[in-house]
Amino acid sequence: MTLEETKAMTAEYIMATAKRLSVAWDKGDGVYLWDTEGHKYLDLLAGIAVNILGYQHPKMVDAMVQAASKPLHVTNIYHIPSQAQLAQQLVEASFPGKVFFCNSGTEANEAAVKLARKWGNESSGGSKNQIITTQRSFHGRTLAMIAATGQEKVRRGFDPQMPGFVSVEFGDIAALAAAINQDTCAIMLEPIQGEGGINLPPAGYLEQVRALCDEHNILLIFDEIQTGMGRTGKMFAYQHENIQPDILTLAKGLGSGVPVGAMIAQNGIAETFTPGSHGGTFGGNPFICSVASAVFQAIQDDDLITHSAEVGAYFLEALVKLTEKFSFLHNARGLGLMLAIDLDMPAGPVVEAGLKKGLILNAVQEKTLRFVPPLILQKQHVDEAIAGMTEIFEGLS
Ligand SMILES: Cc1ncc(COP(=O)(O)O)c(C=O)c1O
Repeated sequence: MTLEETKAMTAEYIMATAKRLSVAWDKGDGVYLWDTEGHKYLDLLAGIAVNILGYQHPKMVDAMVQAASKPLHVTNIYHIPSQAQLAQQLVEASFPGKVFFCNSGTEANEAAVKLARKWGNESSGGSKNQIITTQRSFHGRTLAMIAATGQEKVRRGFDPQMPGFVSVEFGDIAALAAAINQDTCAIMLEPIQGEGGINLPPAGYLEQVRALCDEHNILLIFDEIQTGMGRTGKMFAYQHENIQPDILTLAKGLGSGVPVGAMIAQNGIAETFTPGSHGGTFGGNPFICSVASAVFQAIQDDDLITHSAEVGAYFLEALVKLTEKFSFLHNARGLGLMLAIDLDMPAGPVVEAGLKKGLILNAVQEKTLRFVPPLILQKQHVDEAIAGMTEIFEGLS
């Protein structure tokens, strides 16, 4: 099918919930994608922080072939070895706890919010069920998660809003402390805000949030759907600090392209869910868990966490140099391979110009370029990206 045919059929048959760039992908290899017209592109987006192993990674392909020769789906009324194995890997990499599997980031956060509300309601006689989130956060698109998300634009048109969420400025510990009352059961935040524009908290903030939660007997939920699985140079971003959350949510890189979400809760809190409390038909099915388990193993065996820290630091240094060279670029920032740079002008045209040069760039918020590439990115790919972007920026000077 040609690009023009695909575009025409998309316009006719698919709801226009996404603004699409004028390209369709045909094949991939490592950190490169080829479009349906045969042009090659360096991918600095990874399907929005998903494809951490890039494309056609041999370990992932092997895992998929093996898993495809066994039942793909059986339901959670039976025991599932690959599910148990993936849960063990996640718990051993995080904290002593238990895992609930689902299909997406939004569902992982829904599960976290249900668990926190049930925990709070059971310990208070039914009133401790309010959750504090942060402005500019993004937690997903279901009715509960748009209420949790600190961006008005995702809620517009969907009233009435689900009650039970309040939102305070990200990074402002005094505002957070002031928002806590006897009905608060949890604080939910991204250690680094992704969709909000790659916003890093001030030093010490996450530890202060943990201390507030301990002081008030409130659960701390870290949404690591974008930051998790090695992206920031640690398996989970909270591991840059000397703290643990009570609940951790994951998706995106967890499956490196197969759809999977997970919610991990500390032992003692996880038991709040009992048979029938929560569930889903597909969550944790054997196929997905076998593949995600192989992805997890590859992150560890290939030391992609150290790699992401090293290549990320190299990339960040190069972005800082770009801000020194071009006066309309500012605020190069990020951790590991979760990076961004601000522009004085809309970032959309830069993304379009990138496509013409064989670079997959991404605009998050109006004037920010975000970089969340596959974790297998090498320094020579960074050089290639910086050279391409330099040409684009020279054209704008
Ligand atoms: C931090 C964060 N939480 C939740 C979500 C929602 O995940 P999904 O789109 O898989 O439902 C996203 C997606 O961008 C995210 O970045």
